Amino acid sequence: MYEPLGELRRSKYCGELRAGDAGKEMTLCGFVQRQRVLSNLIFIVLRDRSGIAQLAFDDKSDPEIFAKAQSVRSEYILAAKGIVRKRESINAKIPSGEVELYVSELKILSAAKTPPFEIRDDVQSNDELRLKYRYLDLRRPVIQNKLIFRHQLAKAARDYYDQNGFIEVETPVLIKSTPEGARDYLVPSRVFPGEFYSLPQSPQLYKQILMAAGFDKYIQIAKCFRDEDLRADRQPEFTQIDTEMSFVGEDDVIAVTEGFIKYAYKKLLDKDVQTPFRRMAFDEAMERYGCDKPDTRFGLELVDLSGALAKTKFKAFASALETGGVKAINAKGLAQKLSRKEIDRLVEFAKSCGAGGLAYTRFAGGAVSSSYEKFLTEGEIGAVRSLVQAEEGDVVLIVADANKKTVSTVLSALRSELGGRFGLYDPSEPDILWIVDCPLFEYDEEEKRYVAAHHPFTAPKDSDAGMLETNPGAVKAKAYDIIINGYETGGGSIRINDPELQSRMFRAIGFTEEEAREQFGFLLEAFKYGAPPHGGFAFGLDRLVMVMTGTENIRDVIAFPKLQNAREPMSGAPSPVARKQLDELYLYVKK
Ligand code: AMO
Repeated sequence: MYEPLGELRRSKYCGELRAGDAGKEMTLCGFVQRQRVLSNLIFIVLRDRSGIAQLAFDDKSDPEIFAKAQSVRSEYILAAKGIVRKRESINAKIPSGEVELYVSELKILSAAKTPPFEIRDDVQSNDELRLKYRYLDLRRPVIQNKLIFRHQLAKAARDYYDQNGFIEVETPVLIKSTPEGARDYLVPSRVFPGEFYSLPQSPQLYKQILMAAGFDKYIQIAKCFRDEDLRADRQPEFTQIDTEMSFVGEDDVIAVTEGFIKYAYKKLLDKDVQTPFRRMAFDEAMERYGCDKPDTRFGLELVDLSGALAKTKFKAFASALETGGVKAINAKGLAQKLSRKEIDRLVEFAKSCGAGGLAYTRFAGGAVSSSYEKFLTEGEIGAVRSLVQAEEGDVVLIVADANKKTVSTVLSALRSELGGRFGLYDPSEPDILWIVDCPLFEYDEEEKRYVAAHHPFTAPKDSDAGMLETNPGAVKAKAYDIIINGYETGGGSIRINDPELQSRMFRAIGFTEEEAREQFGFLLEAFKYGAPPHGGFAFGLDRLVMVMTGTENIRDVIAFPKLQNAREPMSGAPSPVARKQLDELYLYVKK
């Protein structure tokens, strides 16, 4: 059944066929989307990456070709030559819909088994099956278009940064293990038994060294690897548009980065985004939205109730206030949509996010139903209602927890859930902001010590450097994240180039001199020969494609992504290896 291509060559992509081609002899190549046989007529819809076109056959066609067309099945791969002609019934829904190819030569280049799911945009199939047969899934135009967009975005990045004097330098993928926050992927060395390379979590140290080497402005579209739990916007291997610049401060890096976003939105989506973007301090974001990557396209802001409830006798709130907090969001005007049953579901949702419960008051149809007001005094009820500006039609949702962080995390998740579910924003307008004045350190509850919030090379604000030893929790960093539609799409910082300050930083996060030298010695050594002040930024390319194409699943923008458990179901990676391979690496697997 497999015929050779012979001399046939595509004259146009299917989706590019137009009324103006009528009368021309043309060849189309592609995959069979659909075949319809109507007694003496056969229509085949042929698909390639540009779209679809119709092939036509009738009783005046060569009987051999007609029979061949009849034998064709979905996803067969064809080359068809013929004359383009006006269609009898025009299909206005597709760009090639005014014409069809009346076929005089047909080759079946490849047969195809029946696919396990239909190749269509609104496919109803689970992710695992789609990723197992990713080559079929990738035939779907929605996915193809996202990958084509990704290509264009990567090209726009190279063009923009090139125009701004950046030089692309490739950095190694087999590197020394220098954990940056996540767990490293390790690669055993054959030559040095018991020693390992690691895969880079980002090119961070190399790009800083490139600044010490005088490259001044660096860019790389770089693969990064992090062995961490996967989420809808997180993959173990992902790509960054990674940049670094010398002789700059925060505003310079921010300006160049904003310039790229503006350029990319115009170039790819023909959208004018206004720069400079808004800036919001980290503390304000946490206060108002409960997270450091707020979706500010809608309100539902967090309201602190600690003042109003300071003296409450209601145990659940009072005990939460001792060490944690009590905060609310007012789901404004959502009472009709949030029935009792819906609220029960929200309670379950809040619990799944870590809350002990979710207290509510619903103001609907002149009636007030509440899970907690009966435990409060008149004064407290009034104070809470007034703080959240409760009115008829609202639902007030309250989380109380002995851990402040839980209150923020749960309410922030609830905000996103309500915003998404009830379409509280315009998805076509990007919402872009910077989160600035980020803390330099985070307190690690498990290890009972401060750790670097970004990485240990991030510089403290000049005014805060004096507090590194005395009040690390209060030190702010010269760090900035860009948030688009509630996604952390990129982040960066100004780095430490002063060895003395770097040593203090290491001490603050509990590294001894030896540990610092052991892990990052090469960077510290390099800087002894001089390092210009420098800083940089990295976009998650995958996430930028996600927000620009409006998908909520990172797998949609990666050709061969991994499942939640980090398995790649098409190839089956990871997989056991032969004993011989392990022997060569001096490894054995402990079971
Ligand atoms: P950071 O760790 O913030 O910074 O990463 C930068 C951006 O990369 C994206 N990202 C991811 N995307 C998909 N899957 C993941 N697992 C994942 N992890 C991160 C995010 C994030 O904002 N070296 C620094 C940058 C710098 O300081 O210049 C760094 O890697 O969009």
